[in-house]
Amino acid sequence: MNAPADPAARMAWLATEIARHDALYHDADAPEISDAEYDALVTENRALEAAHPDLVRPDSPSKRVGAAPSGPLAKVAHARPMLSLDNAFAIADVEEFVGRVRRFLALGDSENVALTAEPKIDGLSCSLRYEDGRLVRALTRGDGQTGEDVTANVRTIADIPATIPAAGVFEVRGEVYMAKADFAALNARLLAEAEQAGDPAKARQFANPRNAAAGSLRQKDAATTAARPLRFLAHGWGEADTLPAETQLGVMQAIGGWGLPVSPDLERVEGIAALAAYYARIEAVRADLPFDIDGVVYKVDRLDWQRRLGQVARAPRWAIAHKFPAQRAETTLERIDIQVGRTGKLTPVARLTPVTVGGVVVTNATLHNADEIERLGVHPGDRVVLQRAGDVIPQIVENLTRDPGRAPWPFPLACPECGSAAERGPDEVDYRCTGGLVCPAQQVERLIHFASRHAFDIEGLGARQIQEFYQDGLVRTPADIFRLTEEQLLPRKKDGRVWAANLLKAIDAKRAVPMDRFLFALGVRHVGEVTARDLARDHGSIAALGRVIRAGLRTRRSLLPTIGETERKFEIRRAKAISGALLTKGIGPEVAEAILAFAAEKHNRDAVFDLLREVAPSDVVFHTRPSAVSGKSVVFTGKLLTMSRDEAKAQAEALGAKVAASVSRSTHLVVAGADAGSKLKKAAELGIEVIGEDDWARIVSGAAS
Ligand code: IVH
Repeated sequence: MNAPADPAARMAWLATEIARHDALYHDADAPEISDAEYDALVTENRALEAAHPDLVRPDSPSKRVGAAPSGPLAKVAHARPMLSLDNAFAIADVEEFVGRVRRFLALGDSENVALTAEPKIDGLSCSLRYEDGRLVRALTRGDGQTGEDVTANVRTIADIPATIPAAGVFEVRGEVYMAKADFAALNARLLAEAEQAGDPAKARQFANPRNAAAGSLRQKDAATTAARPLRFLAHGWGEADTLPAETQLGVMQAIGGWGLPVSPDLERVEGIAALAAYYARIEAVRADLPFDIDGVVYKVDRLDWQRRLGQVARAPRWAIAHKFPAQRAETTLERIDIQVGRTGKLTPVARLTPVTVGGVVVTNATLHNADEIERLGVHPGDRVVLQRAGDVIPQIVENLTRDPGRAPWPFPLACPECGSAAERGPDEVDYRCTGGLVCPAQQVERLIHFASRHAFDIEGLGARQIQEFYQDGLVRTPADIFRLTEEQLLPRKKDGRVWAANLLKAIDAKRAVPMDRFLFALGVRHVGEVTARDLARDHGSIAALGRVIRAGLRTRRSLLPTIGETERKFEIRRAKAISGALLTKGIGPEVAEAILAFAAEKHNRDAVFDLLREVAPSDVVFHTRPSAVSGKSVVFTGKLLTMSRDEAKAQAEALGAKVAASVSRSTHLVVAGADAGSKLKKAAELGIEVIGEDDWARIVSGAAS
């Protein structure tokens, strides 16, 4: 390094050199020097500036606060999962929601369900953890279980106090957002800065306030966040040692009293008519609100009821989002492309003349399948109406050039990627590429899915990287990922040592993977995240599941000749016979058959066994509370007075028990309500323990403490 000795020249050199290392570190992920060497440069610059204040440069590194290196945002598990919301689109859906709540809680006619109502703000949710009143950590929602650490960034948001008067642990949850006016000003500023730098084409422009908020919060350098006009609105809480009230409204008011912003439109509302009126009122002022909203949220006000209602999958039973109707725009359909999915599904995609819908520029829309193309009667060149609702993929809802005289657009009969025939079964809506593993699109899509966030979640192994590895023959099956070596990676990037080391480290970190992620990652048809979790829960380990699949395959082979029967009922019965132990509450015949069809292919089995040589799926530990009934089989019978069957079942499952419909030798416990009959008798005959509803309540509350 040629470091000049004269202070002014030395400071100029340091400014360039430090900026270069910042870029190498942050943008290229490929630092050339150690953290200590970097710190030495920063310290030297600071010392020179202290000695020669007149020489401080406008582009001095000391003016870029927080330029010190920091890695990508760290991932941290949430103390309580961050849930999402079910959607209602019509007031009838809201009415149904209230009905469900009433039934679940087995409420009498005289009991009213009060709900809180507030706008649903379009930002990104964030959990702020206060310990003994001090803000100690802020996490983004992430996948709901694990979020990204944005503590330093959040500390720069003026709406968020560093301390609150709450004892112990209290997690405030809410939306980080950007006001509409601030968003417009930010885009204008970014454009002006780029113009000044002589490169307006390179100006970063955000598509909407939500993206701007997300992009501003998820920064490695908190100084960037500090320069962005972010706001915060609280709408709930996570882990809390003590709650300041026993209602949703009461707790939110307390949070507001602690100095956190809470919606001024938060209210307690009772009865469908009042809910509808609230919705209409907010919809009417929507355009005048300073921030984007996409609906209103209703929550059961009583917290004891919220606790009893609990959650299904990823959304609470005690809340619902009532969404505003989608926004629409008109444009031209330029072309229809076919995309090949990882299961060979061919999806037609509409390429559109770019148009703004609800503040977002849209250039593509899904056309779903050949039936949808026929239903809309669309051909390239047509004028179409586009609709966009929230984060949902834009849809074409109407064809303005519709002409019933035209033949439907001809769906291609060959896969655009590999040329294999495209086929669809008699009852199927989708065409599929028959190329299976010879179709590169399917292989690549499978690999991308395998490494993606909800599957193996391999940091640094994104779609583009996988495509390149695939093209160069480095990675063909999932197991290949785990056999990548430094020698293979090094020649791929200039100065790629750090990149290669980081990637190999990220891959190695996933050799122990939760069983449900492992199953989801395989990309079996119909096996989504929830189904993968059900499979993991039902079977506990890959070995146990493997045994069940092996048995299913044997039956399947022996029954294979009966395939060809089309009668639906028969098909289901056949599927049941074949898939035997795979069938459980969460796993229906269609899923079971898809699993067996996957396992029946030798190349799939080979790929899985090969993968199991590289990784070890751990048995999933479910978040069930330890209890006297963990792992036991429970039967509820008779009329339950304090809760519905659904609630009883949810309680049992939360305690790790299985609920069965009938009493057998494998039943461990019978909970008998009023007027229990034959099941009670059978339990007595078999000598099975029988308890009453109040004993059950004690088990439930005992486990909770
Ligand atoms: S309550 C347990 N209230 O909407 C319920 N969410 O679609 C969790 N959101 O992830 C959310 N405004 O990021 C709630 N007033 C509000 C909200 C709100 C916006 C977001 C939140 C959530 C998403 C679900």
